[in-house]
Amino acid sequence: MMAAAIRQITPHGGVLVDRVLRGVVREAALERAQSLSKVYLSPMAVSDLEMIAVGAFSPLTGFMDKLTYQTVLEDMRLPNGLAWTVPVTLAVTREQADTLHEGQEIALVERTAEGADHLMGILELAEKFGYDKELEAAKVYQTTETAHPGVARLYGQGDILLAGQVFLLNRPSVLEFPELRHDPAQARRLFAANGWRRIVAFQTRNPIHRAHEYIQKVALEIVDGLFLHPLVGETKGDDIPADVRIESYQAILRDYYPPERVLLGVYPAAMRYAGPREAIFHAIARQNYGCTHFIVGRDHAGVGRYYGTYDAHYIFDEFLPHELAITPLFFEHAFFCTQCGTIVSPKICPHDKKYHIVLSGSQVRQMLEAGQQLPPEFTRPEVSKVLVEGMARKREEEFRKEEAKKASAAPA
Ligand code: ADX
Repeated sequence: MMAAAIRQITPHGGVLVDRVLRGVVREAALERAQSLSKVYLSPMAVSDLEMIAVGAFSPLTGFMDKLTYQTVLEDMRLPNGLAWTVPVTLAVTREQADTLHEGQEIALVERTAEGADHLMGILELAEKFGYDKELEAAKVYQTTETAHPGVARLYGQGDILLAGQVFLLNRPSVLEFPELRHDPAQARRLFAANGWRRIVAFQTRNPIHRAHEYIQKVALEIVDGLFLHPLVGETKGDDIPADVRIESYQAILRDYYPPERVLLGVYPAAMRYAGPREAIFHAIARQNYGCTHFIVGRDHAGVGRYYGTYDAHYIFDEFLPHELAITPLFFEHAFFCTQCGTIVSPKICPHDKKYHIVLSGSQVRQMLEAGQQLPPEFTRPEVSKVLVEGMARKREEEFRKEEAKKASAAPA
């Protein structure tokens, strides 16, 4: 029997959003944008704008209005009932909001590292509204402590939210990993070209360790392809930089993964650290990229001790099966057991904790900062090498930058 043509998973809400302007329409918008009032985008807003425009956040077509924002906080759904768990909003100061009026078009501008303006898009300002940051923190992050990086970012942003549809005219000024930037439509094409019907997505903001490899490969056993999709938008300062992480992926892919079964792509979104709510958000976005399955392991998108180890599993029970088309694949905490001689989880290992090799994220960072290789039971030596060298390179770059700053500040 001939294989049937591949029918891909529908995007969340039914249609893959495309707000990227091209050709003469883009030219005209670029011209018009010259005379518009400007709003400068935070690093997260830069990511959000691009993600909305390329359809990763389908069905969103812009930054949320008040009703949408409120329903998302209260019900984890959009006003039309579709599942949606995190606000996607554009914050400005009250002073700036006072200069803008509803119905007006606004130029969305990124400030580059060199301090230049980089026009990215246009917002059709439909509404501006005040909001309760503490309420958002409590609902989305389950804490109002500023030690939580998502809460700190929320409290540090402007007091008014601008809502409206967006158009993308230019990508962000710095496009890292261009060969790995597959927009949702491209990812879907690549999956189809590989003949993959069932694709599992793996979200990560960390270098790859053996527990990651284990859950990816267990998942791959039951699907056709693995979409390794490390997040490369803004992360908190002490997370390992994206370029070092990507290098770690490339190192291990070369030697330990079947190339015809794996696609590496970057996910340009910013990390929110919203734990369970972000797990749903991550899953929906990967559905938009064309994935049918999504890995949710231990403390997904967590930080510190703000969420229970498996809260990001339990939250899926708050949605009826038809509400989320992508299938979550849940994994318990995986680690190396010296008695089993392999990676296991509590589900399959009968041995005492003393046989388990478990390192926390901060222990890993400390070891890397000290230039130490990680234990081979925890991270493959090829990856350790990339991480130790990458972190040393980062330290040297930081040092050089500091020196250059001091030199330019010194009196002539
Ligand atoms: S996250 O913020 O992107 O979730 P991380 O990169 O640490 O952080 O995790 C990527 C994915 O792997 C998440 O689904 C997470 O739950 C899962 N994960 C990470 N470490 C383990 C582990 N030791 N055992 C099981 N799942 C894990």
